[in-house]
Order: sequence, then C-alpha cells, then structure tokens
Amino acid sequence: MRKQIAAANWKMNLTLQQGEQLIDELFKTSYSLNENRQVVFGTPFPYLTAINAKIAGKANVSVAAQNCSDKKSGAYTGETSVEMLKSIAIPYVILGHSERREYFNESNVQLAQKVDICFEYGLKPIFCCGESLSIREAGTQNSFVEEQLKESLFHLTTEQITGFVIAYEPIWAIGTGKTATSEQAQEMHAHIRKVLAAKYGNGVADTISILYGGSVKAANAKEIFGQPDVDGGLVGGASLIPAEFTVIINSLK
Ligand code: PGA
Repeated sequence: MRKQIAAANWKMNLTLQQGEQLIDELFKTSYSLNENRQVVFGTPFPYLTAINAKIAGKANVSVAAQNCSDKKSGAYTGETSVEMLKSIAIPYVILGHSERREYFNESNVQLAQKVDICFEYGLKPIFCCGESLSIREAGTQNSFVEEQLKESLFHLTTEQITGFVIAYEPIWAIGTGKTATSEQAQEMHAHIRKVLAAKYGNGVADTISILYGGSVKAANAKEIFGQPDVDGGLVGGASLIPAEFTVIINSLK
C-alpha cells in the first residue's frame, strides 16, 4: 500500500511557542499511525530545528520546510538552500504551493530545478499542483494540471519518481471553506495517476502518494481520504487546531 499522509501546512502562522503547544496538545490526544500512515508538519523556517527536536522519537512523524531555493548556494540574501535543510536533518520540502506560484511567481521550470536539487541532497519534495477557479470554470483543469506535472516532474527517472508525493490543491478550495467534492477530488487524482502511469507505467504510478488539499477539515476528511486515489491531505487552517488535526490523522486509510 502506498503511504497515506496527513501533512500540516502552517504557512506563516503561529509563534514558536504556539507551534510547540499545538504539537504537545496533538500528542496528548489519541491518533494512530503505522508504517503506511505518516504525519508531516510543514513549519516556518525558523522553527524547523525546534519542531524536529520536539517530534524526535515519534514514529512516522516528520517535519517539512515550506519552500527552498532553486539555487544551491551563493549570494541570494534571504534564501534557504536544500543543503542547509539537509544539514539540520529536514526530510521533506513542500514545493510549488499555489501561494508561492501566485505571490512569488514560481514557475514550472523553476520548480523542476528545485525538485532536482532536492533529489541531489536526498530530500523528499511534496509537489503541489492545482488549477484556479477560472480554469475549473473553463473545464480545462485536467490539461492544466497535466502540464504542471510534465514541466516540473517528467524529466525524473523511474527510480526518482517511485514513492514520490504530490498534493493536488484546487486553488479555489484553499482557505475558502469551499472543498472540492469527494467526486471532484477522486476524478482529478485518478487523472493525475493516469498521466503518471502513461509516462512511468502503472506499477510506478501506484506507488505515488497523491494528497488532496483545500479546506480539508475534521468533518470532510474521512469522505475525501476514502476515495481510492486520495492518499491523505495537505492541510492548512485545520492543521492549526489540535482537535481538528487529530480527526484528520485518524481519517487516513
Ligand atoms: P487550507 O489550506 O486547508 O486552509 O484550505 C491548504 C493548503 O493551502 O495547503
């Protein structure tokens, strides 16, 4: 079975103390993880080391950075390299979130570079894709998402893409309270898997975890995660509330 993942995306929220308290509260509640079920905390850069220390020894719990530079090192003030993340033992990096694409003009080509640097240093990308409302209304979401995958990922080898993690996040569902229906999520996830299978074969496509993101909460997680091609979620708002996120973790297949 491919990995089922509940990934928290804290975005630019919480102080370090609030983040630590959130994790303490979460660990007090009962959630069940196993080799196939994983929790990842996507925290702001300044807290990565502290949160990594906090989760040390918790099986199947990891930390993710929310971004990295597309350059390896050098005179890029304010940027954070993959090598730096590796040096503080961070295993995951969220890449290409729609907020980064929209507010920081990240392109598919630039994301391909970031993906490559992650592989070079052994970090695992959580690669985000997804369409805007106008694209959904025009009915061209399938080809749009396909293009994002092709331009950023299709240069990868079979070995690299095996076990990869993708997050499908329709932009119109992020932070809006408007979730894609479980049918809409399943339809796109199946499409993504089909596109991956056409390039890499069914066996490889079946190893790729495809998370859904966009207003996932306690009340809808079970139904969305229950879809055959949905392998968990990338969760913003609801990941900041321990009681919500516990239910979301326990909704993983
Ligand atoms: P949301 O955010 O759960 O608050 O909609 C999801 C995301 O942007 O990753």
